Amino acid sequence: MNGHRIINLRKIADKRGNLSFIEENSEEMPFDIRRVYWIYDVPGGEKRGGHAFKENEELIVSLSGSFDVILDDGREKYRYSLSRSYYGLYVPKGLWREMDNFSTNSVCMILSSVDYDPSDYIRDYEEFLQYIGNRQHCL
Ligand code: TYD
Repeated sequence: MNGHRIINLRKIADKRGNLSFIEENSEEMPFDIRRVYWIYDVPGGEKRGGHAFKENEELIVSLSGSFDVILDDGREKYRYSLSRSYYGLYVPKGLWREMDNFSTNSVCMILSSVDYDPSDYIRDYEEFLQYIGNRQHCL
């Protein structure tokens, strides 16, 4: 299955504190990891994202606190609430994604499949709808 979904990450439970990890060549990882970035110190009520990627795939993990990721395929919206460090949300390319409801001190880590490339972004929602409409014509 290639769609967006929650992936269970490895969790080593320990009374000294839990440990999770991601390895590029593990069977649960859907793409090769090219880049890692993280979002933090988000003021209350603020949103991030609000764009789509043409090629970039992502795995989004809440390292601390909680936040929501809203995915939109042009027809339906899906809201995922992330609050556990052992879940990763896989986001395939070609979906509009926004993030909101950040709790105080939340840390959002994003693994990406491509280098940062401004030309891979679609930042206009109407342009996104046209883009996916054209892509569906080509399939
Ligand atoms: P952006 O992805 O646009 O974040 P958001 O969609 O939440 O606003 O990134 C914000 C800025 O950070 C943008 O101007 C470019 C810069 N940036 C990098 O230089 N490298 C990166 O890997 C990322 C993700 C962003």
